[in-house]
Amino acid sequence: MSQALPSYDRWGSLKGKRILVRVDFNAPVAEVRGRLEVTDDFRIRAALPLLEELLSRGATVVACTHFGRPHGQVVEEYRVEPVRRRLNELCRDVELMENLRFNPGEEADDPTFGASLVEGFDYYVNEAFGASHRAHASIMVPPTLIPSAAGPNLARETSTILGLLESPARPFVAIIGGAKVADKLAITKVLCAKADTVIVGGGMAYTFQAALGHSVGSSLFDASYVEQCAQLLAAGNVVIPSDAWGLPSTSPFGANAGSEPATLFGPDIPDGFAGLDIGPASVEQFADVIAGAATILWNGPMGVFEDERFSSGTEAVARAVAASEAVSVVGGGDSVAALQTFGLEGDVSFVSTGGGASLELVELGDLPGLKALRESPFN
Ligand code: 3PG
Ligand code: MG
Repeated sequence: MSQALPSYDRWGSLKGKRILVRVDFNAPVAEVRGRLEVTDDFRIRAALPLLEELLSRGATVVACTHFGRPHGQVVEEYRVEPVRRRLNELCRDVELMENLRFNPGEEADDPTFGASLVEGFDYYVNEAFGASHRAHASIMVPPTLIPSAAGPNLARETSTILGLLESPARPFVAIIGGAKVADKLAITKVLCAKADTVIVGGGMAYTFQAALGHSVGSSLFDASYVEQCAQLLAAGNVVIPSDAWGLPSTSPFGANAGSEPATLFGPDIPDGFAGLDIGPASVEQFADVIAGAATILWNGPMGVFEDERFSSGTEAVARAVAASEAVSVVGGGDSVAALQTFGLEGDVSFVSTGGGASLELVELGDLPGLKALRESPFN
């Protein structure tokens, strides 16, 4: 991506102007005393500097977001009300529209729906980094119709991630985790080419284990990716776990889900058992690699960390990243939640508000929402 993103600095006075701000307030919620409440307002707080600046410059500000995946229908549990309440506690005077995804036109990138969004507005700002990998109407259409700009958070996230990939201080260590190898293989490939070492953990690592000929019992495993994992391992800069904490495959796991003690396996996991976290030998090896890094990119947990029996691997990686002097960028809802759980979010260089978006930016070097802003005819 060569061309810079358009900024709203060039708009001059905003007094009396109406500005539509696309935000990503797709925040986690939970029921508290009979109603849904936002449990993590990170994404809402990330948009506040922009919202407050626009208000202080005399603009009328209306925000819009998607929330969950109601797929074009009005679904009561996906009303934005809990998010709106939290926003109004943090910043009065900003109106929040109802969930964009209640309208089928949003995900269909329908020009008519997109046009209806900007009706009556003078300007549009995209401050939704976490949604800018979606070519949806609220992201794509406004820049074609009215003067549009990137919000400060969107611009900073983009330049941080692209800057890190362009000229990382070396050694550059990438840590990739999460459940499904299908979701993360493309990014792992890209990182294998760019980073000096790629640490792979989480459920996705068992397909790499299998590619080395280890038995993985009933751990998460995707046979259709074994060959590609073997190719990545052959390149020589991928580090995978050598041991795992696990349970019999019939035992429940997850937040507050059972008390059967974990068993340590490694590197083979017998039939009837599933690996759910990396073990102590893997932790030691991963922490060693992380300690030697000058640049770190981390996306995805090492195990089912919401279950205390399987949180030690993710916690150890979080602590190693936090303790490092390296430039460290953490993305993805789960990795960010892990940092917060262990009180470490202040100890890394940059926490991305985007999960899928930060991965796609690393993988492709651009996002549909960034392109839409750059190609706006009003620039
Ligand atoms: C996210 O939570 O990653 C973003 O808000 C995008 O949501 P989506 O994956 O439902 O498009
Ligand atoms: Mg640090």
